Amino acid sequence: ATILVLNGPNLNLLGTREPGLYGSETLEDINQSLTDLCLQQGHHLLSLQSNAEYELVDRIHDAKKEGVNFIIFNPAAFTHTSIALRDALLAVEIPFIEVHLSNVHAREDFRSRSYFSDIAQGVICGLGSIGYQLALRAALQQLETQS
Ligand code: DQA
Repeated sequence: ATILVLNGPNLNLLGTREPGLYGSETLEDINQSLTDLCLQQGHHLLSLQSNAEYELVDRIHDAKKEGVNFIIFNPAAFTHTSIALRDALLAVEIPFIEVHLSNVHAREDFRSRSYFSDIAQGVICGLGSIGYQLALRAALQQLETQS
């Protein structure tokens, strides 16, 4: 299967960005461990980080054309603002898991509101970078039981 990992704005700064909240691993480290996990199990991982909403929208549209089976998505600040990204995911009907490194419910009130949680297969937050690995394991398991 093909899995797409999408990361939203400012996540390119992981490693140096508020490490107390987001950890010291870089996005490259995280994506590398996801790639390894995928390869071990004979799957294929694609990834994109973007600070631009339209690039993420376009990537989701392209995912449909490419036959991507599952998306793992940390929309970052777009979590709390983006109807456009929500609509893109609804349009392509690709199942996805929402991931946040930090516990968004233990922070400012505006972070508790997500435009994605009610349409996601599941949501993982507050566990740091391992959250992405857990999401990938859940995605692969779901895909296996489907096939
Ligand atoms: C985040 C949480 C968001 O509220 C924030 O805007 C981010 C990162 C997280 O992974 O914890 O940029 O999605």
